[in-house]
Parts: sequence; structure tokens; C-alpha cells
Amino acid sequence: MPVLNEIRADFEKTRPFEGVRVAVSIHLEAKTAYLAKVLKAGGADVSISGSNPLSTQDDVAAALADEGIKVYSWYNATSDEYKSHLIKVLENKPQIVIDDGGDLVSLLHNECSSLAEEVIGGCEETTTGVLRLEAMEKAGFLRFPMMAVNDALCKYLFDNRYGTGESVWTGIMRTTNLIVAGKTVVVAGYGWCGKGIAMKAKGLGARVIITEIDPIKAIEAHMDGFRVMTMDDAASMGDVFITVTGCKDVIRGRHYEKMKNGVLLANAGHFDVEVNKPELAGLASGSRVVRHNIQEYTMADGRKIYLLAEGRLVNLAAGDGHPAEIMDMSFALQALSAKYMLENGRKLDKKVYKVADEIDQKVAELKLKSMGTGIDRLTPEQEKYLYGWEHGE
Ligand SMILES: NC(=O)c1ccc[n+]([C@@H]2O[C@H](COP(=O)([O-])OP(=O)(O)OC[C@H]3O[C@@H](n4cnc5c(N)ncnc54)[C@H](O)[C@@H]3O)[C@@H](O)[C@H]2O)c1
Repeated sequence: MPVLNEIRADFEKTRPFEGVRVAVSIHLEAKTAYLAKVLKAGGADVSISGSNPLSTQDDVAAALADEGIKVYSWYNATSDEYKSHLIKVLENKPQIVIDDGGDLVSLLHNECSSLAEEVIGGCEETTTGVLRLEAMEKAGFLRFPMMAVNDALCKYLFDNRYGTGESVWTGIMRTTNLIVAGKTVVVAGYGWCGKGIAMKAKGLGARVIITEIDPIKAIEAHMDGFRVMTMDDAASMGDVFITVTGCKDVIRGRHYEKMKNGVLLANAGHFDVEVNKPELAGLASGSRVVRHNIQEYTMADGRKIYLLAEGRLVNLAAGDGHPAEIMDMSFALQALSAKYMLENGRKLDKKVYKVADEIDQKVAELKLKSMGTGIDRLTPEQEKYLYGWEHGE
């Protein structure tokens, strides 16, 4: 992760987090572990947990603990265990919070509010978490400033689109060992993640159908060459269904009734609410695990429906998450945004902030440098032409 390496080298020299308590809740796999190590190299006292009960990799958690980082997480935690891990992280009385999905921040505003006294601010990694924060800000409920790292250009253009696009397919292919070519894939949600998943599906030879609720995104999907229809219509056509909306009940009872025998269901959205599991279980006459991370539901008429990774983010619960090259950029943004929040948080209002353009630019420049790719620079005349108003022709 060369971008983070550069930041680490700087942090080692300048120690911006000397003695600062940083609480982190992000899917706990190797790339996240490196972010924790970079923060520690900057002097931080890091406590960390996962951000989903199925995405922690136990060997990574153990290795981090060995390095003197306070780790509270294990794979396949129950809901109670998962919550107790987050609370343990917060018992370190954080000054900076790095969250993924909003569970840490939500606890700091509810039952763990006494542990929020020293929080200067924090950063949020994903779309769903940013939406939750914006709702809290609107309700006048937010107690400290938060940086929407998800909304930085160097995040969603690459992580959400290319990272999710690729790792969702790696996770599905590795888990099922089935071919994608020739299949009809239904992608629910044509946001940044959905675009990536659809693009990769097309590249793998699938026929792709998009479902949407936003008319503009629906036209975009159509112009990108995909079929667009309602989930009611797509339900009987798909071989593989992938939800990535941040919404709930995207696939539910009446859709299961129409599905073909043998379909695969997977979710890549943050929470496991996009595929309605209770309704699937309610319609099924029985279910069993047929392979690690594949649950088979037998419907009353004998059809089988297969749910991957319990409907949790399939790329993390049934894979290793995004490629390192992608997380290098996302976590560089996290490291620099956390530093920015430490230095400026006390002056900021209790709002959700955009990542500063300089941080976005710096990460892009470091990434290009690591790739050995140069770009042109404007000559003074070009600069005058582009940004002036005098030149008509
Ligand atoms: N799996 C991962 O590694 C990963 C990575 C980044 C983000 N995420 C999560 O994925 C989800 C989507 O993120 P994004 O950045 O693409 O968000 P986005 O806001 O760019 O896109 C979401 C899209 O879903 C559409 N949508 C909402 N409800 C719908 C419904 N009921 N049916 C059909 N479409 C619907 C919206 O109109 C929007 O176009 C979020 O929960 C986010 O936190 C997951």
C-alpha cells in the first residue's frame, strides 16, 4: 500500500497522534490492520473492532493484538458479542473516532454517551454511515463534527465502484465456484457500488438487469447498456441477484414466489436488511448449509433459493474485501482526515464535513506517483486561458 507507506513515513517523523486515543470500527481484515498500524506509527493509542459480525478475520485480529493494538473482535460474533466489542473499543475513551456504517457513533450518542466526552471528531467510511450522520445532524442530535470520507472523490470513484465491483465477484465466485458468463444477473441499486458490480458482471459475460428507485440513475443504467425494470419483473428472470442499495426489503416475499429454481442471492450493501431473510425463511419448508457461506432454502413447491453469507456484505463476509490498491487510497484518506479532524475538530461545528479538496488531491497525487504515472501541467498561458474570462476564441 504505497500511498499509506508515504503517510506512515511522515507520521513516524511528525507523530501527529502522539498519545491520542483513536477508536476504529472498520471491517477487520489485512488492509484495515495496516491503517491501524499507520495510526500507531503516528503515536496513536488505537482500539479497534470490526464493523460487521462476519467480516473480521481472526488471524488478522490476533496479529494486531500481538503488535500492542487493543483489538476487540472475532469472526461470526453474535449480535450481543458484536455490540460488546464496540463498547469495549469505546471504553478507551476516544478522542478521534473512525467508523464504518455508523454503529460506533450511534453508541456514542445513545447508551455510551458518557464515553463521548473527550471526542474531538471523527471520520465515516461508507455511504450508509454518512446517511445516518446526515440524519443525526438534521435532527440536531450530532455531538461532534464528522468527516464524510465516503464522499471524497478518491473514495467513491474507486473504492465503491471498482473495489466493490471486483471484490463482490471475487467473493461470489470463490464461494460458489459457478460460472458467471451466460447468467442473468440482477443488480439492485445503480449507485457507485452498483455501477461497479454491473460493469464487472458485463465483463464476465453476464446479461445484466438493473433495478432502481431513482429515475436519473435508471436512465444512466439504460444508457450504459443495461436493461432496467422493476424487481417484480426481474424476479422471475434472474439467476443471480445482488442488492447494493443501503435500503431494506429490496428483495422480499413476493419476489421469492417468482424466482427460478437454483437462484443465488447476495447482498453488498452495508447492513443485512436488503434481502429480507425472515420472509425467505418463513416461505421455506426447510433450509440447510450446503457449502461454507451458502444457505439453501427449499420452497414449498420444491424450488431452491441459495443465500450467500447470510445476506451480509458478500465481498467481506465471503471474501477478503477490496483489493489492497483500492484500500490504499481509502485508508490514506482516513489517515489524513483523522489528522485533519485532530488539528481542526475543536473549531468545527457539530456537522458532517466534506473531506478537504487538498486531502483528496494529495491522495490522488501520491497514488499516481506510486503508479509511476505522470500527468501534464498547465503552462501559465493555458492557466490564464482556462481560468480567465477575457478570451473568447
Ligand atoms: N460491500 C462493500 O464493500 C461496500 C463498499 C462501499 C459501500 N457499501 C455500501 O453499499 C451501499 C450502496 O452504496 P453506494 O455508494 O453505491 O450508494 P449510492 O447512494 O451511490 O447508491 C445506492 C443506489 O441505490 C438506489 N436504491 C435505494 N433504494 C433502492 C431500492 N429499494 N431498490 C432499488 N434501488 C434502490 C439509490 O437510488 C441509489 O442509486 C451502502 O449501504 C454502502 O454503505 C458497501
